[in-house]
Amino acid sequence: MSDKKLTTEEIGNLRSEYLLPSTMTYFADPITIVKGEMQYVYDNNGKRYLDGFSAVVTISVGHCHPDIVPKVQEQVGTLQHMTTLYFHPAIVEYAKKLASVMPGDLKVSFFTNSGCEANELSAILAKNYTGNCEFITLRHSFHGRTLMAMTMTGQSLWRHSLPYVFGVHQSPAGYCYRCPYGITYPECDLVCARQVEEIIKYSTSGHIAGMLVEPIQGFGGVICPPPEYFKICADIVRKYGGIFMADEVQTGFGRTGDHFFGITHWGVTPDLIAMAKGMGNGCPLGGVTTTTEIAESMRGKVHFNTFGGNPVSMVQGLAVLDTIEKHDYTKNAKERGAELIESFLCLQEKHPIIGEVRGKGLMLGIEIVRDRKTKEPAAKEMLRLMDLCKDRGLLIGKGAMAGNVIRIKPPLCITKEDTEFIGKVLDETLSIVEKEFNIA
Ligand SMILES: Cc1ncc(COP(=O)(O)O)c(C=O)c1O
Repeated sequence: MSDKKLTTEEIGNLRSEYLLPSTMTYFADPITIVKGEMQYVYDNNGKRYLDGFSAVVTISVGHCHPDIVPKVQEQVGTLQHMTTLYFHPAIVEYAKKLASVMPGDLKVSFFTNSGCEANELSAILAKNYTGNCEFITLRHSFHGRTLMAMTMTGQSLWRHSLPYVFGVHQSPAGYCYRCPYGITYPECDLVCARQVEEIIKYSTSGHIAGMLVEPIQGFGGVICPPPEYFKICADIVRKYGGIFMADEVQTGFGRTGDHFFGITHWGVTPDLIAMAKGMGNGCPLGGVTTTTEIAESMRGKVHFNTFGGNPVSMVQGLAVLDTIEKHDYTKNAKERGAELIESFLCLQEKHPIIGEVRGKGLMLGIEIVRDRKTKEPAAKEMLRLMDLCKDRGLLIGKGAMAGNVIRIKPPLCITKEDTEFIGKVLDETLSIVEKEFNIA
């Protein structure tokens, strides 16, 4: 970086000139963030924000966490990179520790730099192990922006590069607030989950390699299916020869509270977990962990990732796991999440714009609508709300196809004071939005 401090306007102009025009930004007046400290970030004017979106659900334990930074600094100054062609202790220490937090028999890992690479590898493993090549994923899902991950994604918004990969079929998500069948849980008998079987029977060869799901859909708008949903899906998938895979890129590493991984809230042990984001607390770290048996299907194949498993990311990944354990952050996620849910449910009684409050732990969503009867998405209102929250020192995210779901996913280290602040800011800003947009 040069010594000259660029203004936000100058950065904006340079972005327009030198970065791909698809590079997105938040806010009518974008902000320049220059510093992070646990749950807070600071802009170039020194203004502090509570990072209620964890830099898109990526900061798990906290920005520049003091338990992590010194370890990483030491590794950067010792050895940054050599590739897995050479031995290094950090990768095996991390893989062993990661195996200890995995559900069931998930034990063998491969490390990548991102979530989409992890999902690509999941698909390769599923094909190699089963000998089948078709997949089921869910509508409203998001799995990444490489071609296979984009094909697996269930939102047209993120599927812009045709033709897609062969053989991926989307099944209905467990989205009760907008049930595609217009029926109600539990009388519905989970027709959405049972569709997986119909799709396999009628739209595939009858043999599938696997199903990939986000336990709680992130970009899709914090869609959190009923308790029986994933067990039904997993049983069907295994019946037709496939493996059941959890994309825990957002839900992993304690985010959903109490559990280390999101899928175990549903009482399901997956055959494979794909991870990234919170795994590295901000460093480019992703990976896949699976059973020894499934991993064996890669024996004799050449598979390599230049940066995957580098010493710096491995040290950071291990430090993240140690930090989650040391501070019992999964418990904090559960407790702070419960406070937030309670506060959002109170806001729902007062604010007609709130259609539904959902999620688990610190993976929460508030769906906002122009009218509770028609459930018309409040998309423009969402943009205004984000600006108003930002002005008051709170960064929030948005999700769903219509962009009308407030996403609250702060770092796992937040305090009761922070949850009260979030409730207070949302109360004030929702009132302003309701007034400006005539929502009563
Ligand atoms: C659930 C999920 N899977 C996969 C990805 C892709 O991860 P990455 O952006 O690291 O490639 C993302 C986020 O972008 C995600 O939210």
